[in-house]
Order: sequence, then C-alpha cells, then structure tokens
Amino acid sequence: MQKIWLDTDPGFDDWLAMLMLSANLDVQWLGVSVVAGNAPLATTYDNALRIKKHYHLDVPVYAGCDAPLAGAQETAQCILGAEGMATTGEPLPTVDIRQSEAEQEAREQRSPLPHAVDALIEAVRKHPGELTLMCIAPMTNIATALQRAPDIAAQIKEIILMGGSADQGNHTAAAEFNIFADPEAADIVFNAGIPLRMFGLNLCRQLLVTSDEVQQVRALGTPRAKWLAGYFEAYLRIRSADGSVPMPMYDPAVAIYLRRPELFSFKPARVDIEVQGRLTRGMTVCEFRVPRRAEANTEVAMTVDGPRAMECMMQELLGTLS
Ligand code: BDR
Ligand code: CA
Repeated sequence: MQKIWLDTDPGFDDWLAMLMLSANLDVQWLGVSVVAGNAPLATTYDNALRIKKHYHLDVPVYAGCDAPLAGAQETAQCILGAEGMATTGEPLPTVDIRQSEAEQEAREQRSPLPHAVDALIEAVRKHPGELTLMCIAPMTNIATALQRAPDIAAQIKEIILMGGSADQGNHTAAAEFNIFADPEAADIVFNAGIPLRMFGLNLCRQLLVTSDEVQQVRALGTPRAKWLAGYFEAYLRIRSADGSVPMPMYDPAVAIYLRRPELFSFKPARVDIEVQGRLTRGMTVCEFRVPRRAEANTEVAMTVDGPRAMECMMQELLGTLS
C-alpha cells in the first residue's frame, strides 16, 4: 500500500483532492501539512480543519509555513475570495479555532502539536524510502524541511505535485500559481535529487469541469452535497458569470493519478525554476529537446484521458457525500 503525505493550502480544489484521498483505500494517508497559498496560513489551516471535521477524516493536520522563503506573499484571494474558497451556497460550518481538533489533539497528547515541517521530517525518517509526498500547494513546507534536514532527500520515495506548466501559466502569463507563490522553494525542491512527477497546467487543462458535475453533486441532496455544490458553482463562475465555460481541475489531477495511473502519459525533462525573470518569475522551464541537453529531473505529465479521469473523480467524490 502506498504511503502518502499531503502538503496543501485549501483551496476548493485541494478540498476535492483531500476527499479523493480519503476515499482511496489503496493508499495509507499518514498526514497533512498545511501552508500559506490560496489564502494566508490561518485561513488555509482553518479550512483544512473544517474539511477534516465535517468528513471525519482520520488523519493528523499540521500548520506549517506562513510566508514564502523570499519575496512578498502572494495569495489567490483575488479570484477565490477571502476564504480562499468562494461559494454561491451555504458555507461549510466554521470550526472555532480555539476548540479546534488540533488543539484538542495537542491537549490529549499533553504536548503542543509540532510544526508541519517537523512532523513531515519525522514521517519521512520513520518510513525511509516509502513515503510519497503529494504536494498541491506552494512548496515552502517541503523546501524548509529539506533545508532543515537534508538527509530526508534520499529517503523520500517520490514527490507528485500539482504545479508549473509545460506551456503557459495562469497566475501570470508564464507562471502557475503554486510555483509563482514561492519560486525559491520550488527551486530547492526541483534540485534536491528526489524523483519528481509534475502535473502542470498543460495537463490540468485536459480535465474539465462543467455544470454537469455540479448537477451530479447537487442531485445527491445531502447537506454535504449541498455545501459542495455551492462551492463547485462558484468555482465554475471563475471563468464566466453563468458558469457555462468549462473550468480546468487542478489538484485532483494528482489524486486521480494515484487511483488510475494508466490514464496518464509522461515525458522526462529537465525542469528548472525561473527565480529572476521580470516577466517569467516562477516559470517552470522544461527542457525537452533531443538530443538531451541536460539530465532529466522530472517526469512531466503530458496527456490524460480527460473524460475517464473526470468520471473517476466524480465517482470517488460522490461516495464521500452521503
Ligand atoms: C493551483 O493553485 C491553487 O490556486 C490551486 O489550489 C492549485 O493548487 C492551480 O494553479
Ligand atoms: Ca492547492
């Protein structure tokens, strides 16, 4: 059984990826490290705790880094709203942060919950060569763990990440959000010698959500389905006011891969992170040229059977909404 650690910044699409992981009985989900990304850390952490609480997820959730390694903090709140997860319906009930699960767990253990970076380091050392890191957020926690404990690089089985692009960006013309939000961190991770599998925008644009998916969720009629449908609708409206233009699905791409790897194709490349460019900071520069100019460090996801992958996502999600 694959051992998985999730690094995340919920985020509506992070939420979907978390639900898919919880439904995947072929993986052993060991922990969640939360980082600032779609919104500041206090918000992404609170979102993660709310998701954990409302779906009774049996996995520890740790708060991690609240700022990028360098440069100004960038969030996606301009698109996703202050919560980092806009909704057109009833919001997911809030968790009183003072009564949060994290505090309760810490109280039970009579010791403060560790910082996510320390928890991640400990998990890698406890399962040398076995842990796959699923990273669907800016890579600040992972890079900080590598800086603090360089020995873990050789002990991580693989990093499977949503981030970057083999063609154009989304947060800027050149850069995808997760990489743009902390290019220095991504640079450390892409140079750490860890096997990497990148699910970038070029791939995610083959996974399209339409109003059909929203209707499938709403039709279930349970409170959980009602909450999710409102967020789904708001997500669709990012592209067009009436939700008629399909939206790419980002973070669930990696969760779909864990379930149905045969739906994807990959191409090895040397991927480097642009940390300086005036117009290109945060760009993932993919060297595909043949003959090879540089040794590949990443398997770049190139194609996916979109309809089958979306079917897999919906099947798993609907199962979590009863
Ligand atoms: C990525 O950025 C975030 O807004 C999403 O959660 C996803 O991880 C897509 O570019
Ligand atoms: Ca994310």
